[in-house]
Amino acid sequence: MKVLSVNGSPRKDGNTSVMLRRVCAPLTRGGATVDEAHLHGMDLSPCSGCMTCMRKKDGKCHGYPDDGNALIERTRAADVILLGSPVYFGSVTGQIKAYMDRIGFVSRVNDGFLRRKIGAAVVVARRAGELLTFAELNMWFLINGMVVPGSSYWNVGHGRKEGEVSQDTEAMATLDDLADNIQWLWDAVRP
Ligand SMILES: Cc1cc2nc3c(=O)[nH]c(=O)nc-3n(C[C@H](O)[C@H](O)[C@H](O)COP(=O)(O)O)c2cc1C
Repeated sequence: MKVLSVNGSPRKDGNTSVMLRRVCAPLTRGGATVDEAHLHGMDLSPCSGCMTCMRKKDGKCHGYPDDGNALIERTRAADVILLGSPVYFGSVTGQIKAYMDRIGFVSRVNDGFLRRKIGAAVVVARRAGELLTFAELNMWFLINGMVVPGSSYWNVGHGRKEGEVSQDTEAMATLDDLADNIQWLWDAVRP
């Protein structure tokens, strides 16, 4: 199993990372390889809406000569896509929205490479907005024909300072159950 873990937080080792790594740890022990994509610091502009990907149909983004096409290739190579975002003003971060728009559109107007990959989202908030943000990430999986395993609760946690979410024991248990379900699904459907 190849996992792409997409961190939409500008804090490389913040709470979103804690949650993503909590899901990845048991998967790695089960034999998975994990590719961590930290979007902050990458050159990734929002979608330009140029529609060149739809005209050319070569599986590439032509909007900007930035890191978008490398991310498309890293996404193509993965069986499981984990999306992680902190809540920013009740929504996802700009970094992860750029990833979703750029990669999602190229997939949709080309060969649908996201279809039937496994997708799971993790979200952290200091206080509120976590469920709307969680829904936004899950809607991206669903419109792209991906398969979304559940857990024992929604995959959301609470914390403000870096690392604080690890004290949210219910969130940590939810992430452990999510990892277990991802592994179960992979074992059930892998070729
Ligand atoms: C610009 C900005 C907007 C934020 N908006 C919210 C919000 O709407 N609701 C909330 O509960 N927390 C909000 N927060 C707090 C973060 O979601 C919280 O600190 C989170 O743990 C950060 O995760 P990270 O360590 O992965 O970056 C905001 C933080 C920033 C910097």
